[in-house]
Amino acid sequence: MSSNFIWAVATAAYQIEGGKDTDGRTPSMWDAIREIPGRIKDGSTKDLSCDGRNKYREDVQLIKSLGVTHYRFSIDWSRVMKNGKTRNPLGMEYYKDLCRELKKEGIKCIVTLFHADLPLDLYNEGSWLTEGIIDRFVEFSRYCYEELNEYVSIWITFNEIRMHAWAGVVKVEGEPFHSLDIDYKKFLGNVSVTRAVMVASRNMLLAHAKVYRLFHEKDDSTRVGIIVGAHSCMDAEGEKISAVSERATKSMVNLYLDPLIHPSNDWTEDMKEYLGTDLPPWSEDEKKLLKNTMDVLCLNYYRPHIVKERKGPSLVEELFNFTMVDDDWPKIGGESSWVRLHPRGLISLLEGLTKKEKEDGMKYPNVPILISENGVNDDPSLDSLEDTNRIQYIEAHIDGILEARRSGINVIGYTAWSLMDNLEWDDGFQVRFGLFHVDLKSEEKTRTPKMSVDWYRKKIEKERRDETMNKEVK
Ligand code: NOJ
Repeated sequence: MSSNFIWAVATAAYQIEGGKDTDGRTPSMWDAIREIPGRIKDGSTKDLSCDGRNKYREDVQLIKSLGVTHYRFSIDWSRVMKNGKTRNPLGMEYYKDLCRELKKEGIKCIVTLFHADLPLDLYNEGSWLTEGIIDRFVEFSRYCYEELNEYVSIWITFNEIRMHAWAGVVKVEGEPFHSLDIDYKKFLGNVSVTRAVMVASRNMLLAHAKVYRLFHEKDDSTRVGIIVGAHSCMDAEGEKISAVSERATKSMVNLYLDPLIHPSNDWTEDMKEYLGTDLPPWSEDEKKLLKNTMDVLCLNYYRPHIVKERKGPSLVEELFNFTMVDDDWPKIGGESSWVRLHPRGLISLLEGLTKKEKEDGMKYPNVPILISENGVNDDPSLDSLEDTNRIQYIEAHIDGILEARRSGINVIGYTAWSLMDNLEWDDGFQVRFGLFHVDLKSEEKTRTPKMSVDWYRKKIEKERRDETMNKEVK
Protein backbone atom coordinates (compact mmCIF):
# COMPACT_ATOMS: atom_id res chain seq x y z
CA MET A 1 0.00 0.00 0.00
CA SER A 2 1.52 3.34 -0.94
CA SER A 3 1.60 6.06 1.68
CA ASN A 4 0.13 8.79 -0.51
CA PHE A 5 -3.44 8.49 0.69
CA ILE A 6 -5.31 11.80 0.33
CA TRP A 7 -6.56 13.31 3.58
CA ALA A 8 -8.81 16.22 2.74
CA VAL A 9 -11.40 18.65 3.95
CA ALA A 10 -13.89 20.37 1.65
CA THR A 11 -16.02 23.44 1.08
CA ALA A 12 -17.81 24.96 -1.90
CA ALA A 13 -17.51 28.54 -3.15
CA TYR A 14 -21.07 29.73 -2.72
CA GLN A 15 -21.48 28.02 0.62
CA ILE A 16 -18.66 29.96 2.29
CA GLU A 17 -18.30 33.02 0.06
CA GLY A 18 -21.97 33.79 -0.41
CA GLY A 19 -23.20 36.32 -2.90
CA LYS A 20 -20.70 39.09 -2.22
CA ASP A 21 -20.33 40.93 -5.52
CA THR A 22 -16.83 42.25 -4.82
CA ASP A 23 -14.03 42.08 -7.43
CA GLY A 24 -16.38 42.24 -10.40
CA ARG A 25 -18.44 39.17 -9.47
CA THR A 26 -21.79 39.08 -11.27
CA PRO A 27 -25.09 37.67 -9.93
CA SER A 28 -25.67 33.96 -9.73
CA MET A 29 -28.69 31.65 -9.57
CA TRP A 30 -28.25 31.18 -5.82
CA ASP A 31 -28.18 34.95 -5.24
CA ALA A 32 -31.58 35.08 -6.90
CA ILE A 33 -32.89 32.10 -4.93
CA ARG A 34 -31.84 33.70 -1.65
CA GLU A 35 -33.67 36.91 -2.54
CA ILE A 36 -37.05 35.12 -2.77
CA PRO A 37 -38.91 35.79 0.49
CA GLY A 38 -39.51 32.60 2.45
CA ARG A 39 -37.34 30.38 0.23
CA ILE A 40 -34.46 29.80 2.67
CA LYS A 41 -35.60 28.05 5.83
CA ASP A 42 -33.71 30.24 8.32
CA GLY A 43 -34.92 33.41 6.60
CA SER A 44 -31.38 34.56 5.77
CA THR A 45 -30.73 36.49 2.54
CA LYS A 46 -27.75 36.87 0.29
CA ASP A 47 -26.24 39.42 2.65
CA LEU A 48 -25.26 36.71 5.13
CA SER A 49 -22.14 34.64 4.50
CA CYS A 50 -19.06 33.25 6.24
CA ASP A 51 -17.09 35.88 4.35
CA GLY A 52 -14.80 33.20 2.97
CA ARG A 53 -13.88 35.55 0.12
CA ASN A 54 -12.10 37.95 2.49
CA LYS A 55 -10.99 35.59 5.22
CA TYR A 56 -9.20 33.04 3.02
CA ARG A 57 -5.72 33.63 4.47
CA GLU A 58 -7.04 32.92 7.94
CA ASP A 59 -8.95 29.92 6.57
CA VAL A 60 -5.79 28.45 5.07
CA GLN A 61 -4.36 28.44 8.59
CA LEU A 62 -7.44 26.54 9.79
CA ILE A 63 -6.93 24.00 7.03
CA LYS A 64 -3.28 23.70 8.00
CA SER A 65 -4.22 23.10 11.63
CA LEU A 66 -6.16 20.00 10.53
CA GLY A 67 -3.03 18.39 9.12
CA VAL A 68 -4.77 17.50 5.85
CA THR A 69 -2.81 16.90 2.66
CA HIS A 70 -5.48 18.37 0.34
CA TYR A 71 -8.19 21.02 0.37
CA ARG A 72 -11.22 20.54 -1.87
CA PHE A 73 -12.92 23.79 -2.88
CA SER A 74 -14.89 25.06 -5.84
CA ILE A 75 -14.56 28.03 -8.15
CA ASP A 76 -17.41 30.48 -8.39
CA TRP A 77 -18.08 30.75 -12.14
CA SER A 78 -19.87 34.08 -11.53
CA ARG A 79 -16.72 35.51 -9.97
CA VAL A 80 -14.17 34.48 -12.57
CA MET A 81 -16.32 35.02 -15.70
CA LYS A 82 -18.60 38.05 -15.78
CA ASN A 83 -22.13 36.80 -16.39
CA GLY A 84 -20.52 33.43 -17.02
CA LYS A 85 -19.04 34.66 -20.30
CA THR A 86 -16.15 37.13 -20.03
CA ARG A 87 -12.91 36.54 -18.15
CA ASN A 88 -12.57 38.54 -14.95
CA PRO A 89 -8.89 38.60 -13.90
CA LEU A 90 -9.68 40.33 -10.61
CA GLY A 91 -11.97 37.47 -9.56
CA MET A 92 -9.45 34.87 -10.71
CA GLU A 93 -6.66 36.56 -8.76
CA TYR A 94 -8.44 35.64 -5.54
CA TYR A 95 -8.42 31.92 -6.37
CA LYS A 96 -4.79 32.15 -7.50
CA ASP A 97 -3.84 33.70 -4.22
CA LEU A 98 -5.78 31.07 -2.31
CA CYS A 99 -3.81 28.38 -4.19
CA ARG A 100 -0.52 30.16 -3.50
CA GLU A 101 -1.32 30.37 0.21
CA LEU A 102 -2.18 26.67 0.29
CA LYS A 103 1.00 25.80 -1.56
CA LYS A 104 3.09 27.75 0.97
CA GLU A 105 1.65 25.45 3.61
CA GLY A 106 2.25 22.31 1.54
CA ILE A 107 -1.46 21.71 0.91
CA LYS A 108 -2.57 20.47 -2.51
CA CYS A 109 -5.79 21.53 -4.22
CA ILE A 110 -8.73 19.45 -5.39
CA VAL A 111 -10.81 21.85 -7.43
CA THR A 112 -14.47 21.43 -8.30
CA LEU A 113 -15.43 23.44 -11.35
CA PHE A 114 -19.19 23.28 -10.87
CA HIS A 115 -20.73 23.02 -7.42
CA ALA A 116 -24.46 23.78 -7.70
CA ASP A 117 -24.35 27.47 -8.59
CA LEU A 118 -24.65 28.95 -12.07
CA PRO A 119 -24.21 32.52 -13.35
CA LEU A 120 -27.74 33.93 -13.39
CA ASP A 121 -27.55 34.94 -17.06
CA LEU A 122 -26.73 31.37 -18.05
CA TYR A 123 -29.54 30.02 -15.91
CA ASN A 124 -31.96 32.36 -17.62
CA GLU A 125 -30.64 31.32 -21.02
CA GLY A 126 -31.73 27.75 -20.32
CA SER A 127 -29.26 26.39 -17.77
CA TRP A 128 -28.13 22.82 -18.54
CA LEU A 129 -31.13 22.26 -20.81
CA THR A 130 -29.42 23.91 -23.76
CA GLU A 131 -26.35 22.65 -25.60
CA GLY A 132 -24.96 26.20 -25.76
CA ILE A 133 -23.93 25.95 -22.12
CA ILE A 134 -21.45 23.17 -22.88
CA ASP A 135 -19.01 25.47 -24.66
CA ARG A 136 -19.53 28.16 -22.02
CA PHE A 137 -18.47 25.61 -19.40
CA VAL A 138 -15.48 24.57 -21.49
CA GLU A 139 -14.34 28.22 -21.75
CA PHE A 140 -14.73 28.74 -18.01
CA SER A 141 -12.80 25.51 -17.35
CA ARG A 142 -10.08 26.46 -19.84
CA TYR A 143 -9.55 29.73 -17.95
CA CYS A 144 -9.37 27.91 -14.61
CA TYR A 145 -6.90 25.41 -16.04
CA GLU A 146 -4.65 28.09 -17.54
CA GLU A 147 -4.48 30.04 -14.31
CA LEU A 148 -4.58 27.37 -11.64
CA ASN A 149 -3.44 24.04 -12.98
CA GLU A 150 0.06 24.30 -11.51
CA TYR A 151 -1.53 24.06 -8.04
CA VAL A 152 -4.19 21.44 -8.73
CA SER A 153 -3.85 17.78 -7.92
CA ILE A 154 -7.32 16.67 -9.07
CA TRP A 155 -9.94 18.52 -11.12
CA ILE A 156 -13.57 17.61 -10.54
CA THR A 157 -15.92 18.79 -13.26
CA PHE A 158 -19.28 18.40 -11.50
CA ASN A 159 -20.36 18.01 -7.91
CA GLU A 160 -23.19 15.45 -7.57
CA ILE A 161 -24.25 15.44 -11.20
CA ARG A 162 -27.43 13.50 -10.49
CA MET A 163 -28.46 15.78 -7.66
CA HIS A 164 -27.94 18.81 -9.84
CA ALA A 165 -29.90 17.35 -12.74
CA TRP A 166 -32.88 16.43 -10.56
CA ALA A 167 -32.86 19.36 -8.13
CA GLY A 168 -30.85 22.22 -9.61
CA VAL A 169 -32.31 22.80 -13.05
CA VAL A 170 -36.09 22.24 -13.16
CA LYS A 171 -38.63 21.64 -10.43
CA VAL A 172 -39.38 17.93 -10.00
CA GLU A 173 -42.12 16.68 -7.68
CA GLY A 174 -40.71 14.69 -4.76
CA GLU A 175 -37.13 15.96 -5.19
CA PRO A 176 -35.35 18.76 -3.33
CA PHE A 177 -35.72 22.07 -5.19
CA HIS A 178 -32.44 23.96 -5.56
CA SER A 179 -33.13 26.28 -8.46
CA LEU A 180 -35.44 28.92 -9.84
CA ASP A 181 -38.62 27.87 -11.58
CA ILE A 182 -37.52 27.70 -15.22
CA ASP A 183 -40.14 26.97 -17.88
CA TYR A 184 -38.27 24.11 -19.50
CA LYS A 185 -40.81 23.76 -22.31
CA LYS A 186 -39.65 27.13 -23.62
CA PHE A 187 -36.31 25.45 -24.38
CA LEU A 188 -37.25 21.85 -25.10
CA GLY A 189 -40.82 21.94 -26.38
CA ASN A 190 -43.61 19.81 -25.01
CA VAL A 191 -41.56 17.05 -23.37
CA SER A 192 -41.85 15.34 -19.99
CA VAL A 193 -40.01 16.60 -16.93
CA THR A 194 -38.00 13.35 -16.91
CA ARG A 195 -36.80 14.12 -20.41
CA ALA A 196 -35.78 17.62 -19.28
CA VAL A 197 -33.76 16.16 -16.39
CA MET A 198 -32.07 13.62 -18.65
CA VAL A 199 -31.26 16.30 -21.26
CA ALA A 200 -29.60 18.30 -18.48
CA SER A 201 -27.68 15.17 -17.38
CA ARG A 202 -26.64 14.53 -20.95
CA ASN A 203 -25.36 18.09 -21.42
CA MET A 204 -23.39 17.90 -18.17
CA LEU A 205 -21.84 14.58 -19.22
CA LEU A 206 -20.85 16.03 -22.58
CA ALA A 207 -19.41 19.11 -20.85
CA HIS A 208 -17.47 16.83 -18.50
CA ALA A 209 -16.03 14.83 -21.42
CA LYS A 210 -15.05 17.94 -23.38
CA VAL A 211 -13.24 19.36 -20.35
CA TYR A 212 -11.56 16.00 -19.74
CA ARG A 213 -10.26 15.95 -23.34
CA LEU A 214 -9.15 19.57 -23.17
CA PHE A 215 -7.19 19.11 -19.95
CA HIS A 216 -5.62 15.89 -21.20
CA GLU A 217 -4.61 17.51 -24.49
CA LYS A 218 -2.78 20.12 -22.48
CA ASP A 219 -1.10 17.58 -20.23
CA ASP A 220 -1.92 13.90 -20.26
CA SER A 221 -0.99 13.49 -16.61
CA THR A 222 -3.84 15.79 -15.48
CA ARG A 223 -6.31 13.95 -13.26
CA VAL A 224 -9.99 14.65 -13.91
CA GLY A 225 -12.97 13.22 -12.06
CA ILE A 226 -16.68 13.73 -11.54
CA ILE A 227 -18.78 13.34 -8.36
CA VAL A 228 -21.92 11.30 -7.90
CA GLY A 229 -23.86 11.12 -4.66
CA ALA A 230 -23.24 7.61 -3.29
CA HIS A 231 -26.88 6.55 -3.01
CA SER A 232 -26.21 3.02 -1.94
CA CYS A 233 -29.44 1.01 -1.76
CA MET A 234 -30.19 -2.17 0.19
CA ASP A 235 -33.21 -4.44 0.17
CA ALA A 236 -35.67 -4.03 3.04
CA GLU A 237 -35.36 -7.80 3.58
CA GLY A 238 -32.17 -8.17 5.62
CA GLU A 239 -30.39 -5.14 4.18
CA LYS A 240 -29.08 -7.23 1.30
CA ILE A 241 -28.30 -6.44 -2.30
CA SER A 242 -31.21 -7.71 -4.40
CA ALA A 243 -32.69 -7.05 -7.82
CA VAL A 244 -34.67 -4.06 -6.59
CA SER A 245 -31.80 -2.55 -4.58
CA GLU A 246 -29.42 -2.93 -7.54
CA ARG A 247 -31.93 -1.26 -9.81
CA ALA A 248 -32.38 1.61 -7.36
CA THR A 249 -28.62 2.06 -7.01
CA LYS A 250 -28.19 1.95 -10.77
CA SER A 251 -30.86 4.59 -11.27
CA MET A 252 -29.20 6.96 -8.81
CA VAL A 253 -25.49 6.20 -9.28
CA ASN A 254 -24.51 4.08 -12.28
CA LEU A 255 -26.81 5.81 -14.76
CA TYR A 256 -24.61 8.90 -14.52
CA LEU A 257 -21.32 7.01 -14.80
CA ASP A 258 -22.12 4.38 -17.43
CA PRO A 259 -21.63 6.61 -20.48
CA LEU A 260 -18.17 7.52 -19.19
CA ILE A 261 -16.74 4.21 -18.01
CA HIS A 262 -19.05 1.26 -18.55
CA PRO A 263 -17.65 -1.10 -21.22
CA SER A 264 -20.79 -0.48 -23.32
CA ASN A 265 -19.90 3.22 -23.36
CA ASP A 266 -23.62 3.98 -23.42
CA TRP A 267 -26.61 4.11 -21.11
CA THR A 268 -27.13 0.46 -20.18
CA GLU A 269 -29.98 -1.53 -21.77
CA ASP A 270 -32.00 -1.84 -18.55
CA MET A 271 -31.90 1.92 -17.94
CA LYS A 272 -32.99 2.48 -21.56
CA GLU A 273 -35.94 0.20 -20.95
CA TYR A 274 -37.03 2.03 -17.80
CA LEU A 275 -36.63 5.51 -19.24
CA GLY A 276 -37.71 4.82 -22.84
CA THR A 277 -37.87 7.93 -25.00
CA ASP A 278 -37.11 10.13 -22.00
CA LEU A 279 -33.49 9.02 -22.29
CA PRO A 280 -31.79 10.98 -25.09
CA PRO A 281 -29.52 8.70 -27.14
CA TRP A 282 -25.84 9.29 -27.92
CA SER A 283 -24.44 9.57 -31.45
CA GLU A 284 -21.37 7.45 -32.30
CA ASP A 285 -19.17 10.58 -32.14
CA GLU A 286 -20.51 11.47 -28.74
CA LYS A 287 -19.80 7.96 -27.49
CA LYS A 288 -16.20 8.34 -28.63
CA LEU A 289 -15.97 11.67 -26.85
CA LEU A 290 -17.34 10.21 -23.61
CA LYS A 291 -15.30 7.01 -23.61
CA ASN A 292 -13.04 6.49 -20.58
CA THR A 293 -13.09 10.11 -19.49
CA MET A 294 -12.57 9.48 -15.82
CA ASP A 295 -9.27 9.34 -13.96
CA VAL A 296 -10.87 9.46 -10.51
CA LEU A 297 -14.36 8.41 -9.51
CA CYS A 298 -15.53 10.69 -6.71
CA LEU A 299 -18.26 9.75 -4.24
CA ASN A 300 -20.08 11.92 -1.70
CA TYR A 301 -21.53 9.64 0.97
CA TYR A 302 -23.86 10.45 3.87
CA ARG A 303 -26.27 7.53 4.18
CA PRO A 304 -27.65 4.48 2.36
CA HIS A 305 -31.33 3.80 1.61
CA ILE A 306 -33.60 0.85 2.17
CA VAL A 307 -35.83 0.02 -0.77
CA LYS A 308 -38.72 -2.24 -1.63
CA GLU A 309 -40.30 -3.36 -4.89
CA ARG A 310 -43.23 -0.96 -5.31
CA LYS A 311 -43.75 2.17 -7.38
CA GLY A 312 -43.43 5.64 -5.96
CA PRO A 313 -44.20 8.01 -4.43
CA SER A 314 -41.49 10.22 -6.03
CA LEU A 315 -41.02 10.39 -9.78
CA VAL A 316 -37.69 8.52 -9.62
CA GLU A 317 -39.26 5.72 -7.58
CA GLU A 318 -42.20 5.64 -9.97
CA LEU A 319 -39.94 5.38 -13.00
CA PHE A 320 -37.69 2.65 -11.64
CA ASN A 321 -40.30 0.74 -9.70
CA PHE A 322 -38.99 0.99 -6.15
CA THR A 323 -39.90 2.80 -3.00
CA MET A 324 -37.67 3.97 -0.16
CA VAL A 325 -38.76 2.80 3.28
CA ASP A 326 -37.91 3.96 6.77
CA ASP A 327 -34.74 2.69 8.38
CA ASP A 328 -33.78 2.39 12.02
CA TRP A 329 -30.13 3.38 11.73
CA PRO A 330 -28.75 5.85 14.29
CA LYS A 331 -29.90 9.43 13.67
CA ILE A 332 -26.43 10.70 14.34
CA GLY A 333 -27.24 14.31 13.45
CA GLY A 334 -30.33 14.44 15.67
CA GLU A 335 -34.01 13.64 15.12
CA SER A 336 -34.54 15.94 12.15
CA SER A 337 -31.35 15.04 10.33
CA TRP A 338 -31.33 13.10 7.04
CA VAL A 339 -27.82 11.75 7.72
CA ARG A 340 -27.53 8.22 9.15
CA LEU A 341 -24.63 6.30 10.67
CA HIS A 342 -24.26 3.26 8.44
CA PRO A 343 -20.77 2.98 6.90
CA ARG A 344 -21.52 -0.50 5.59
CA GLY A 345 -23.70 1.17 2.94
CA LEU A 346 -20.65 2.87 1.51
CA ILE A 347 -18.51 -0.23 1.62
CA SER A 348 -21.11 -2.33 -0.17
CA LEU A 349 -21.37 0.35 -2.85
CA LEU A 350 -17.58 0.33 -3.26
CA GLU A 351 -17.70 -3.44 -3.60
CA GLY A 352 -20.54 -3.22 -6.10
CA LEU A 353 -18.72 -0.67 -8.23
CA THR A 354 -15.39 -2.44 -8.28
CA LYS A 355 -15.44 -6.04 -7.25
CA LYS A 356 -18.46 -7.82 -8.63
CA GLU A 357 -17.50 -10.98 -10.36
CA LYS A 358 -20.31 -11.31 -12.87
CA GLU A 359 -20.55 -8.80 -15.69
CA ASP A 360 -23.94 -7.32 -14.98
CA GLY A 361 -23.51 -3.68 -15.72
CA MET A 362 -22.39 -2.69 -12.22
CA LYS A 363 -18.73 -3.43 -12.78
CA TYR A 364 -16.28 -0.75 -13.86
CA PRO A 365 -12.60 -0.77 -14.72
CA ASN A 366 -10.32 -0.23 -11.77
CA VAL A 367 -10.77 3.56 -11.60
CA PRO A 368 -9.29 5.04 -8.39
CA ILE A 369 -12.01 6.20 -6.01
CA LEU A 370 -11.92 9.34 -3.92
CA ILE A 371 -14.41 9.81 -1.10
CA SER A 372 -15.00 13.46 -1.94
CA GLU A 373 -17.47 14.23 0.91
CA ASN A 374 -18.54 12.59 4.14
CA GLY A 375 -19.77 14.22 7.32
CA VAL A 376 -22.69 14.99 9.58
CA ASN A 377 -24.51 18.06 10.84
CA ASP A 378 -24.30 19.14 14.50
CA ASP A 379 -26.61 17.21 16.80
CA PRO A 380 -28.82 19.91 18.38
CA SER A 381 -28.85 17.99 21.67
CA LEU A 382 -25.08 18.48 22.08
CA ASP A 383 -23.08 21.61 22.78
CA SER A 384 -22.11 22.88 19.32
CA LEU A 385 -18.37 22.78 20.08
CA GLU A 386 -18.53 19.27 21.56
CA ASP A 387 -19.33 17.45 18.36
CA THR A 388 -18.76 13.92 19.59
CA ASN A 389 -21.36 12.73 17.05
CA ARG A 390 -19.16 14.03 14.21
CA ILE A 391 -16.10 12.25 15.62
CA GLN A 392 -18.04 9.00 15.89
CA TYR A 393 -19.42 9.34 12.37
CA ILE A 394 -16.15 10.28 10.66
CA GLU A 395 -14.15 7.66 12.54
CA ALA A 396 -16.54 4.87 11.59
CA HIS A 397 -16.34 5.84 7.92
CA ILE A 398 -12.56 6.29 7.83
CA ASP A 399 -12.06 2.91 9.49
CA GLY A 400 -14.43 1.23 7.03
CA ILE A 401 -12.76 2.87 4.05
CA LEU A 402 -9.25 1.95 5.17
CA GLU A 403 -10.41 -1.61 5.72
CA ALA A 404 -11.86 -1.68 2.20
CA ARG A 405 -8.56 -0.32 0.90
CA ARG A 406 -6.65 -3.08 2.67
CA SER A 407 -8.97 -5.61 1.07
CA GLY A 408 -7.93 -4.35 -2.36
CA ILE A 409 -10.48 -1.65 -3.23
CA ASN A 410 -8.69 1.22 -4.90
CA VAL A 411 -9.79 4.06 -2.58
CA ILE A 412 -7.24 6.86 -2.79
CA GLY A 413 -8.55 9.37 -0.30
CA TYR A 414 -11.04 10.62 2.23
CA THR A 415 -12.60 14.09 2.46
CA ALA A 416 -14.44 15.45 5.47
CA TRP A 417 -17.36 17.77 4.79
CA SER A 418 -17.09 20.55 5.77
CA LEU A 419 -14.26 22.82 6.84
CA MET A 420 -16.68 25.22 8.52
CA ASP A 421 -20.38 25.77 9.14
CA ASN A 422 -21.71 27.20 5.90
CA LEU A 423 -24.81 27.80 3.81
CA GLU A 424 -26.58 24.45 3.71
CA TRP A 425 -28.51 25.55 0.62
CA ASP A 426 -32.25 25.89 1.27
CA ASP A 427 -31.74 25.07 4.98
CA GLY A 428 -29.70 28.26 5.32
CA PHE A 429 -27.19 28.26 8.16
CA GLN A 430 -29.28 26.36 10.67
CA VAL A 431 -27.88 22.95 9.64
CA ARG A 432 -24.20 23.00 10.48
CA PHE A 433 -21.73 20.54 8.98
CA GLY A 434 -18.52 22.38 9.96
CA LEU A 435 -15.48 21.13 11.82
CA PHE A 436 -15.07 24.80 12.67
CA HIS A 437 -17.99 26.68 14.17
CA VAL A 438 -18.79 30.03 12.54
CA ASP A 439 -20.36 32.79 14.59
CA LEU A 440 -22.51 34.30 11.86
CA LYS A 441 -23.76 37.05 14.16
CA SER A 442 -20.28 38.43 14.77
CA GLU A 443 -18.90 41.00 12.38
CA GLU A 444 -15.69 38.97 11.99
CA LYS A 445 -17.61 35.73 11.35
CA THR A 446 -15.40 34.21 14.01
CA ARG A 447 -14.28 30.62 13.44
CA THR A 448 -13.83 28.37 16.49
CA PRO A 449 -12.58 24.78 16.36
CA LYS A 450 -15.04 22.13 17.46
CA MET A 451 -13.73 19.00 19.22
CA SER A 452 -13.53 17.20 15.88
CA VAL A 453 -10.69 19.45 14.66
CA ASP A 454 -8.16 18.14 17.13
CA TRP A 455 -9.49 14.62 16.74
CA TYR A 456 -9.27 14.67 12.90
CA ARG A 457 -5.68 15.95 13.04
CA LYS A 458 -4.68 13.17 15.43
CA LYS A 459 -6.50 10.54 13.39
CA ILE A 460 -4.71 11.64 10.22
CA GLU A 461 -1.35 11.64 12.03
CA LYS A 462 -1.96 8.16 13.36
CA GLU A 463 -3.11 6.69 10.06
CA ARG A 464 -0.23 8.28 8.15
CA ARG A 465 2.24 6.92 10.71
CA ASP A 466 0.72 3.42 10.53
CA GLU A 467 0.70 3.46 6.76
CA THR A 468 4.36 4.46 6.58
CA MET A 469 5.27 1.77 9.10
CA ASN A 470 3.34 -0.88 7.18
CA LYS A 471 5.09 0.20 4.03
CA GLU A 472 8.50 -0.05 5.65
CA VAL A 473 8.00 -3.64 6.83
CA LYS A 474 6.97 -4.84 3.36
C1 NOJ B 1 -23.48 17.47 -0.68
C2 NOJ B 1 -23.21 18.80 -1.30
O1 NOJ B 1 -22.16 18.66 -2.24
C3 NOJ B 1 -22.86 19.89 -0.31
O2 NOJ B 1 -22.94 21.11 -1.00
C4 NOJ B 1 -23.78 19.83 0.88
O3 NOJ B 1 -23.55 20.87 1.77
C5 NOJ B 1 -23.57 18.48 1.57
N1 NOJ B 1 -23.96 17.44 0.66
C6 NOJ B 1 -24.38 18.31 2.85
O4 NOJ B 1 -25.73 18.34 2.54
